[in-house]
Amino acid sequence: MEENKDLIVILQQIQQKALEALQKINSSEDLEHWKAVFLGRSSEVMQVFKEIPAMEVGMRPVLGQKANIVKTELEKHFEAAREHIQQAALTNSITQQKLDVTLPGRLPERGRLHIATQTLQEIYRILAEMGFQVYRSREVESDEYNFELLNIPAHHPARDLWDTFYTKKDGIILRTHTSPGQIHAMHEYAPDPVRIILPGMVYRYEQMDASHEIQFNQIEMLAVGKNITFGDLRGTLEEFVKRMFGSGVETRLRPSYFPFTEPSAEMDMKCIACSGKGCTVCSGTGWLEILGCGMVHPTVLMNGGYDPEKFSGFAAGLGTERISMLRYGVDDIRNFWANDIRFLKQF
Ligand code: DAH
Repeated sequence: MEENKDLIVILQQIQQKALEALQKINSSEDLEHWKAVFLGRSSEVMQVFKEIPAMEVGMRPVLGQKANIVKTELEKHFEAAREHIQQAALTNSITQQKLDVTLPGRLPERGRLHIATQTLQEIYRILAEMGFQVYRSREVESDEYNFELLNIPAHHPARDLWDTFYTKKDGIILRTHTSPGQIHAMHEYAPDPVRIILPGMVYRYEQMDASHEIQFNQIEMLAVGKNITFGDLRGTLEEFVKRMFGSGVETRLRPSYFPFTEPSAEMDMKCIACSGKGCTVCSGTGWLEILGCGMVHPTVLMNGGYDPEKFSGFAAGLGTERISMLRYGVDDIRNFWANDIRFLKQF
């Protein structure tokens, strides 16, 4: 009986001691230490629990209850103290530690338009000012549109001008140039006049090197109407080149051959790297070839639904990656689609 009383007193003393110790604590480290000492496995309260079974049967519930009350009480105070310490730490960090608002924020990564798209858009802008509308047509073409209707019959040697990607489907190919768009557009608009540009990706089964890729963008120009002359072709192209490269740029037309135009020509411009003196960019010639062009062949006009006796037109086609290369001094066309961010970031 005496022993029982003692234990109750001891429990009270334990509680008092613990709470007094807790009062002095103001850091979380000390608090954790306190918890180990007063509520841990070998703490005094826990020892009391261990001793209960050895006590007189009648007293065990009373002692157990008391020990529980003390333990719960200590736990409650522990939680309260923890809350208090955390609050104090927060208040301290807000009031004492300065927040440096002058540090630069983290900028979001910004994307950009691909160099090829930038050039295409610049060309759209210039040609839009000159009255040309964008007309889009498919990249997967039929042999008929890519060749036949453009006056390039099967087995004609002119087909060798384009190394073609064929598909397993008979007569279905990847377009080798944007010219088939001419026929699509003429079919849609004939007999109304058209003044359009046909931009987009074309595909060629070629050995790749610094100036050859298996895919690249072209822009085709087409104007069909009454009384359109070679003079219109020349004036339009010269104006375009001046707006694209600067008013001082000199151009020249050289006779050439394309099955879908007659007469046909190629336009060169004075080398912008050496001003025509001759350098590696222009292979010493002083001139850079930039596009093919000509008066739309009567057969093509007819295939498009126009009467060649009443209508005439001009067409031109240029590779726009080549234009980008000239404008920015890019020396390898394979950079465009290699997807190397270090290259693309520069533009
Ligand atoms: N389609 C030709 C090619 O890819 C380029 C071309 C030349 C287009 C003359 C034309 C043109 O419209 O008149 O090689």
